[in-house]
Amino acid sequence: MATPRVLSGIQPTGNIHLGNYLGAIRNWVDLQDKYDCFLFMADLHAITVPYEPKQLKDNVRKVAATYIACGIDPQKSTIFVQSQLSAHSELAWLFNCITPLNWLERMIQFKEKAVKQGENVSVGLQGYPILQAADILLYEPDLVPVGEDQKQHLELTRDIAARLNFQFGNEENPVLKVPEPMILKAGARVMSLTDGTKKMSKSDPSELSRIDLTDPPELLRKKVKKCKSDPHRGLEFDNPERPECNNLLNLYMILSGQEKEAVAQECADMGWGQFKPLLADTLVEALAPIQAKYAEVMEDSAYLDSVLAEGREKANAVAGTTLANVKTAMGFTL
Ligand code: TYM
Repeated sequence: MATPRVLSGIQPTGNIHLGNYLGAIRNWVDLQDKYDCFLFMADLHAITVPYEPKQLKDNVRKVAATYIACGIDPQKSTIFVQSQLSAHSELAWLFNCITPLNWLERMIQFKEKAVKQGENVSVGLQGYPILQAADILLYEPDLVPVGEDQKQHLELTRDIAARLNFQFGNEENPVLKVPEPMILKAGARVMSLTDGTKKMSKSDPSELSRIDLTDPPELLRKKVKKCKSDPHRGLEFDNPERPECNNLLNLYMILSGQEKEAVAQECADMGWGQFKPLLADTLVEALAPIQAKYAEVMEDSAYLDSVLAEGREKANAVAGTTLANVKTAMGFTL
């Protein structure tokens, strides 16, 4: 039997933060031994909001280096750049023509981003989830490991696959495989450091709201010191009145590799003055090996080029086959 497949990606729009790591990349690392993983930089998605061409180019390489620094092994996983494979855009167009417009109008992320852009909202921003469906379905993955915020996009992906199968395939012979989302509970929703009710996000204008994986130790300590807390003594999980407390305890739990019970006990009588330095130390320690490896990979551009060239070739073989199947089913001559 073929090794089951995993597909996931990140938009290269700024620095990779702790939410991206704990909600996504960290889980990919664990999946590499059992799954054939296809992991990419979603640079075509990154241009749905205003951007600088030079920065886009740099960010693609930085994200690739971050994957490797976090433990993605190019010998086991395929790392590639979305825009280097025309199959993504081509399949997205085919999906555009079978997806009802009202499916897109329901997308929460579109509504949130559209508000910020006012009159300048592009057709691309609205079509964003269709391109994401193409990214996923091209690789016929068994699992798509993402954070909680991508759940709606994955549901849409499943709906598009089912619709295409219904219109152009038959039950015994579906054109596309319908993938399963994989949203692990721990780390699926890392919240902002300045507002525990908002998710940590690359687009938040405040640097202090997020931890970037490349933040040096002094900056990590400063961000933890300044992060929002509350006036209560004693720390606890799952109190809806204390979203910051829950978020920071969860971060400490995941980064220190401890069980929830143990952390709840350890921190039950702590004040913020004692907890914050503990969290900062844990963060500095957890990120140190990632930062060292990141610096090493960014120094070696020939290595990074070779990883991406190999990834492109491997991804192309899989994506090309699926695209050809879809085009044939939809009535095109190849
Ligand atoms: P992006 O670039 O916003 O985020 C990349 C991954 O990080 C997760 N994530 C979080 N997890 C926990 N807490 C947070 N605060 C947090 N913020 C982000 C996201 O859920 C995601 O898994 N549309 C996608 C990129 C994409 C994609 C795909 C993903 C394009 N095509 C195909 C999977 C499959 C996005 O914008 O992710």
